[in-house]
Amino acid sequence: METRFIFFVCFIASVLVLISGVNVNCIVNFSSYICKHISNIANFPIVLPANIRKVTLFGTDFLNRSLLNGLFRSPTWTNISELSILEFNVIVSIEKDFLDGLDNLKFLSISSCLGLKDIHPDVFNSTPDLEALYLDDNPYLKLPVVEEALNGRLDKLKYLSLIGIQAFGRRVILGENFSKALCTKNLTYLDISGVKTIMLQHRDVQNVFPNVKYLNISYSLLMAGDGLQNLGDSYFRNIEFLDLTSCTSLSHYTIKLEDFNISWVLFENIRYVFAQHIMIPDIGVRLNARYTFEKAVLQDLKVLDLSQNNIMVLNITFSGTYDFHALETMNLSSNNLEYISPSLLSSFPSLKILDLSRNQLHKMQNMDDFSYLFCRNKDLEIIYLHKNNLSFVPSNIFSTNTKLRAIDLSDNKLVFFNIDLKNVFNLTLIDLRKNRLKSLPAAFLGQLERTFLHQDSATKKRNLYDKYCAQSHSG
Ligand SMILES: *[C@@H]1O[C@H](CO)[C@@H](O)[C@H](O)[C@H]1NC(C)=O
Ligand SMILES: *[C@@H]1O[C@H](CO)[C@@H](O)[C@H](O)[C@H]1NC(C)=O
Ligand SMILES: *[C@@H]1O[C@H](CO)[C@@H](O)[C@H](O)[C@H]1NC(C)=O
Ligand SMILES: *[C@@H]1O[C@H](CO)[C@@H](O)[C@H](O)[C@H]1NC(C)=O
Ligand SMILES: *[C@@H]1O[C@H](CO)[C@@H](O)[C@H](O)[C@H]1NC(C)=O
Ligand SMILES: *[C@@H]1O[C@H](CO)[C@@H](O)[C@H](O)[C@H]1NC(C)=O
Ligand SMILES: *[C@@H]1O[C@H](CO)[C@@H](O)[C@H](O)[C@H]1NC(C)=O
Ligand SMILES: *[C@@H]1O[C@H](CO)[C@@H](O)[C@H](O)[C@H]1NC(C)=O
Ligand SMILES: *[C@@H]1O[C@H](CO)[C@@H](O)[C@H](O)[C@H]1NC(C)=O
Ligand SMILES: *[C@@H]1O[C@H](CO)[C@@H](O)[C@H](O)[C@H]1NC(C)=O
Ligand SMILES: *[C@@H]1O[C@H](CO)[C@@H](O)[C@H](O)[C@H]1NC(C)=O
Repeated sequence: METRFIFFVCFIASVLVLISGVNVNCIVNFSSYICKHISNIANFPIVLPANIRKVTLFGTDFLNRSLLNGLFRSPTWTNISELSILEFNVIVSIEKDFLDGLDNLKFLSISSCLGLKDIHPDVFNSTPDLEALYLDDNPYLKLPVVEEALNGRLDKLKYLSLIGIQAFGRRVILGENFSKALCTKNLTYLDISGVKTIMLQHRDVQNVFPNVKYLNISYSLLMAGDGLQNLGDSYFRNIEFLDLTSCTSLSHYTIKLEDFNISWVLFENIRYVFAQHIMIPDIGVRLNARYTFEKAVLQDLKVLDLSQNNIMVLNITFSGTYDFHALETMNLSSNNLEYISPSLLSSFPSLKILDLSRNQLHKMQNMDDFSYLFCRNKDLEIIYLHKNNLSFVPSNIFSTNTKLRAIDLSDNKLVFFNIDLKNVFNLTLIDLRKNRLKSLPAAFLGQLERTFLHQDSATKKRNLYDKYCAQSHSG
């Protein structure tokens, strides 16, 4: 019965394949065509089915190299706008007419091709409308080869991704040739993450970066020859999205507070900053300072991730002209943070999500500053305080945070817990797992019940009580 059913399904499938002209190793998904395990001309989609716009081709390690030219010359490829060529591990060089026939291509990815070394300088003459070029994870491909192929071509290029380029080669230099290849284009997206070392000759590339909105240099070691201090004011003027995760060498430039005036004004349109793990872990940064802004900067900053930077003290007071009303998410997790000033947090009045987990905030738990820490963050919805070795939380700590939805205090050493929730209306979760609580005060539980009666949902109430009961039993 079962075999017959399978046979029937296979029969139907092969009829469909014959009708549509689909290769057996390919599937159609709306206007996409996806082909896997391409190893020879017999399973290469020389002719495409109708109404396809986007093609993804996965190669094998055994592809016949002589197959690699004239692949896209059938008229069925003319209207393809997106093409990804992945894992064609035997390709060593891409010849001049490789892309012939792809006249309307806008997006091209040639990625994860482990053997790729060369790209003919004229290959992109076949694809004049290309807007996005992804050459990711080709460890033998060198930047100068790409620069030469881009020089004087692809005027419409906006997105360039070179993740892990020349991983097996010497350091990547973003210098004069990079600038020459890209300065006439309007590059808004540049991903050059996962590169061993990037040497930024910033005088040379000052014409490339001012248009860039998205810059990802995470997991790359950045070296800036004559210091970031010398960057002009307009260098990153359009940048909105910056990922510097694990760019540890940056610590030399950003650690000193006196340098902040230059670094801030550079980024006038910045919205997202991921600066996790950029400082060298054993330094232990103590930022004790007043900072006066002469003009409003960073007023669009919405997300700031400074986790894993070993910042022990954040005692900063801003004055002058500043406006951080856009900041909604801040991540200070995993910093060994012992002290953070209420005055700093009060500069971010729109904060909704604050992650202070995995720190040493028990060191400030008995200070008045701890009680007032969040008192100006009236929009706060989610607060993470787990793994802070806290044995005590002041009862008034959240008394002004009326919009709180979740409080995570798990994995601390709380022996007693009784916070004032009379102004908190939307709370759905207090996580108190892994503490040393034996019971909770009756007054607090009564308060909780009232808090939950404000809400319609009985489930919410039950979930929370489950949490508490589980806690009381396990001690
Ligand atoms: C088909 O396309 C849809 C929408 O683009 C996507 O969510 C889905 O994962 C695709 N399915 C397959 C099998 O690729
Ligand atoms: C590769 O393709 C060429 C031409 O199609 C053919 O003559 C040759 O035998 C193939 N080589 C292998 C190893 O399949
Ligand atoms: C390509 O698009 C044009 C304009 O939309 C259309 O006239 C032509 O038939 C299409 N060609 C193919 C092979 O689909
Ligand atoms: C820059 O390009 C020129 C040719 O256009 C080449 O001779 C030179 O070696 C390149 N410089 C670097 C650093 O790649
Ligand atoms: C560059 O692109 C952006 C948006 O993608 C556009 O606003 C700007 O006018 C363009 N600049 C030039 C010089 O083409
Ligand atoms: C930046 O690049 C890294 C590594 O390529 C990637 O994991 C990360 O998601 C990218 N960041 C963003 C925010 O797009
Ligand atoms: C910071 O700005 C002040 C005034 O604009 C300037 O005198 C000082 O040199 C700047 N600091 C650095 C490190 O550039
Ligand atoms: C904060 O960053 C850490 C990694 O450093 C991550 O695990 C955590 O999920 C982030 N928190 C939020 C709220 O995104
Ligand atoms: C924070 O800095 C102020 C000076 O700006 C200083 O008076 C205060 O003692 C500092 N607090 C801590 C806990 O370091
Ligand atoms: C936790 O705090 C107690 C004092 O409250 C201290 O003795 C202990 O060393 C701290 N543990 C850690 C892991 O920091
Ligand atoms: C509670 O949540 C509701 C629905 O999301 C919202 O309309 C209301 O403004 C919230 N109240 C507070 C105090 O945040």
